[in-house]
Parts: sequence; C-alpha cells; structure tokens
Amino acid sequence: MSLQNEWYIGCESRRLKNRPLAVRLFSTDFVLWRDAEGVAHAAVDRCAHRNAPLSKGSVEAGCLVCPYHGWKYDGAGECRHIPSLAEGRPIPAAARLLTRSIYEQDGYVWLCPGVAPTHAPRSFPHCDAPGWTTFRMRTRFDSNVEACLENFLDCPHTATVHRGWFRNPDPREMDAVVRKGPDSVEVAFEKEPTTNSFISRLFYPKHCQLHHTDQFLMPNLSRVDYRFDDRHHFIVTSQASPVDEWTTEVYTVITFCYGRIGWLVRLAFEPMSRHIIQQDVDILRLQGANLRRFGGTDYTHTETDLIALHMQSLRRRAERGETAGTEVNEKRVRLRF
Ligand code: FES
Ligand SMILES: [Fe+2]
Repeated sequence: MSLQNEWYIGCESRRLKNRPLAVRLFSTDFVLWRDAEGVAHAAVDRCAHRNAPLSKGSVEAGCLVCPYHGWKYDGAGECRHIPSLAEGRPIPAAARLLTRSIYEQDGYVWLCPGVAPTHAPRSFPHCDAPGWTTFRMRTRFDSNVEACLENFLDCPHTATVHRGWFRNPDPREMDAVVRKGPDSVEVAFEKEPTTNSFISRLFYPKHCQLHHTDQFLMPNLSRVDYRFDDRHHFIVTSQASPVDEWTTEVYTVITFCYGRIGWLVRLAFEPMSRHIIQQDVDILRLQGANLRRFGGTDYTHTETDLIALHMQSLRRRAERGETAGTEVNEKRVRLRF
C-alpha cells in the first residue's frame, strides 16, 4: 500500500524528550526516541527478544532500553548490550529492531510507516514566520482520514454544525471554481459574501473582499485560506495521521497575520478555534459510528460536495501504487452556504 510510503506526523517535536514515546499509525505501533545528540529515531514497538513494548522502557545515553530484560538498542536499531550475556559472548545478529525513517520539520516529528519517500514532508505555510502568529492544535477524531479531511474542507456544514460561531445560513449565492490536479483539489470562491457570525464580526476587517480558497493536498493535508489583504490573512492547515481505520490524529497549524495585533487576536481566536474543532469532533464521532454500524459508506453526492470524489480517487490511485497523472480540469459550481 503506497499510502504508507509517505510522511505522517508522529508527534510534536517538543513532546519527544528523554523518554520513549508510543505512536500508532496504520494500526501498527511504533516507538520514537532521541539519541544522545537529540536526533529522533523510530522503530516498530516490539523488542527483538521477547517482544515487550519498548515504548514502556527508557532511554539511557541515547540507547533505547527494553523494560523487560534490559536489552539496549542504538539509533540504528542494533542491539548493543544484553545484560545477561557473559563478557565477550556475541550478540545474536537477529537482535535488531525494525527501524523506520524520521524527518523533523516545522516543530513536528514525521514518521514514514513504509518505505520513505525521497521528498521532504510538505511545509506548513508561514509557520512561525516573522510577522505571522502561529498556534497549533492536536485533535483526536473517531473517524477515518477521508471523513476528517472532507469535513475540514466542507463549507455547507459550517452553517449547521458551527451555526452562529462561524457561519449562518445565507441565501446569497456565489461561484466556486474547482480545480482538480494530479495531486490536489483546489477550490476558489468568487465574491464570497461576508457571513454574519461571531468569528466574522470579531475578526474580519471591514470593507475588504474576502478571498477564500480550500485545498486538499495528497496524501492527507487540508489547507484553508481566508485572505482579505496583505495584512489580514488566515491559514488553517491540517495534517491527518491515520492511527487505525477509525481513529485519526489531526495536527492543525493556524497561522495568520493581522497587522500588529496578531498576539491580541490569538487570545480570542485560539479558544474559539478549539471550541469549533470540538463541534467537528462531535459530529464526526456520530458519523463515524454510523459508518461502522452500517458497514461503510453509502454516500449521495451533489455538485456542492466539491472535494470528496476527486480526493477519494487520488487516494485510491495511490493505494494501488499508481503514479500521479498530469491531468488538470476545472469546473464552476454555483452554490450558497
Ligand atoms: S523482551 Fe526486551 S529484553 Fe527481553
Ligand atoms: Fe467544521
């Protein structure tokens, strides 16, 4: 399955300190740790000796130590010490871990559960950049990656699930230009009317036209831009890590510029963002439980479900190990929220 041959966030860099950390991805348990130089390493969370979970062990002088008989592994996953072996006795060649590739970027430790790609993980735009304010959220969803990503890029639900907070039902229509690419779907809304909501009253600058775009980026990223002018721009990027078939760990980076008062805006914007994402957690828990109860999806699509079908076909193609095509097609959809 070549979706596994991609980078996925395993944890925030700051969470990986001097203890091993358990991370589950694609229903497989991994252990992360740092060596004496602070370089992160990953392996399947199973000791070569009697298969105890190494994430319950410790790190000593940069080596991962098993909690059962104390075997010690270096960053390459080689066993360096077996306490019970007499002096000079050889360490068996099989005493090694199944290691995995790691990449650290933007304050996250990325892990590849399969064969690591040659390219770096995608960067979070303007993350921690001068003039921008950044905050991060980690959210566990009881649903699958595609249901999560569709939700993050789905505007119509905002007028029901986030009514009053983010958007209210509005009869005014607009056009959306949907551009389906070889590894993305991009939606640009044209002349989107300013919604009347708590968020818009508080944060949208007056007399500015909103430029709103939504993007799905293979294999597991969503990006939403609300740009008013050069000094007022919000970007919400979410990376969905598949824990197992029905659990997704979502790492969201919210980065924005807002003149000189970004820090002040953050004071109100961060708790509101957490409240709004909790509303999504709740609806996706209900939806996910129903998908499981009825044994999968039986969706009806309309032209205003702008992202889902192309996102699914790109991900199915990657699962089959097919390389991305080059075709791009564009269509215009009339809709309202
Ligand atoms: S199970 Fe790990 S050292 Fe024995
Ligand atoms: Fe939502």
